[in-house]
Amino acid sequence: MRISVIIPTYNERENILVLLDTLKRAVSKVQQHTFSYVIVDDNSPDGTGATIAAYQKKHKDVFLLSGKKEGLGKALLRGLVYAATKLHADILAQMDADLSHDPRSFPQFIEAIDSGADMAVGSRYIPGGSIPENWGTHRKIFSIVGNSIVRFGLGYSHVHDWTGGYRAYKKSFFEKIQDELSSYSGYVFQIAFLHKILKLHANVSEVPIQFTDRRYGKSKIAPSEYIRNVLYYVGSERSKAFMTSSFLKFLVVGGFGFVVNAVVLKVFHESVGVSPILANLIGATLAIFSNFNLNNIWTFKERKVKSPVEYVLKLIQFYFTSAFGVILIQTGTIYFGIAFFGKEGYFLYFLIGTALLLVWNYVFYSLVIWKKH
Ligand code: GDD
Ligand code: MN
Repeated sequence: MRISVIIPTYNERENILVLLDTLKRAVSKVQQHTFSYVIVDDNSPDGTGATIAAYQKKHKDVFLLSGKKEGLGKALLRGLVYAATKLHADILAQMDADLSHDPRSFPQFIEAIDSGADMAVGSRYIPGGSIPENWGTHRKIFSIVGNSIVRFGLGYSHVHDWTGGYRAYKKSFFEKIQDELSSYSGYVFQIAFLHKILKLHANVSEVPIQFTDRRYGKSKIAPSEYIRNVLYYVGSERSKAFMTSSFLKFLVVGGFGFVVNAVVLKVFHESVGVSPILANLIGATLAIFSNFNLNNIWTFKERKVKSPVEYVLKLIQFYFTSAFGVILIQTGTIYFGIAFFGKEGYFLYFLIGTALLLVWNYVFYSLVIWKKH
């Protein structure tokens, strides 16, 4: 297969040729693939471009893209698109140019893909991987905490390293997310990329890497902008997930049920002349019926009940759950609230009871009535 390694550079004159030589030596043992190298240089003022241009004379597998500086994400995307469309690479890879990513580990990434992974991610936070010893405690904590926020915040905790840039993946997966990537011009690109791949259920495997500090030149990361972008990404993805979550649908359905209950109560009492107690009983019965059906066709539609028998059984179960919730959990909370703290706070106990009721209902619905098979 054709493998293309994308290497973004900005003022990496002292590093880039050492990297290329070491990398080429490392892959020379890999027989079954062919390799090309795409250096994306944003017109580095230190003359990185000229250094590469000179190197290219003897290395026809090295390609140089020059452009204006628009950030790491933009540079990576340009390189990836070039490798995918012009070089017809089957596997795309990326690494930093400053030797923080040891090129001698690169064959492990290829092995991971050869063994069936869709993406191989260099990881500092798994056994065998590491961050530099010489980093101060603050920096270490910052790195670990930052990564954990992303890892748990996005909810794919099985991948341990989200922010690094040493990776390889199948072109087919890149093409599926390509259009979504242009919004991430900076370092947050790495996080967005991994997240979007995971959302496609890609098989991601981690390769332990020992991250070392660069020897020449300096880092181009702008920490405060980076932190802002990362938090914004995690926050907006979380809220997007919530807006489409079954919990939100469950709340909407329940809100509609409340309206049904209230309208039926009023109509039956005021226009039909039924007593409020009976009118409410009718209203609640209809509301629960509406809740069941809306949850069945909308909130939990992937787990919709199929046969008529199952429908009736689940509906009965649903009525019992609802009654249990209202009588024991909601009313029980009010009862104990008053018993322990007095009558004044009854409305607060009602609110707490209602919150507990919602949690109870949601948990019971998703784990029992519409349980995953
Ligand atoms: N073309 C281009 N344009 N290259 C860039 C740009 C840019 O705007 N910004 C950075 N680079 C290149 C650098 O020249 C280097 O090869 C690589 O991208 C990483 O940049 P560094 O400046 O070395 O970043 P770092 O070491 O601080 O950041 C590392 O850790 C981050 C957080 O874990 C990298 O691994 C990042 O990818 C990672 O997000
Ligand atoms: Mn670096």
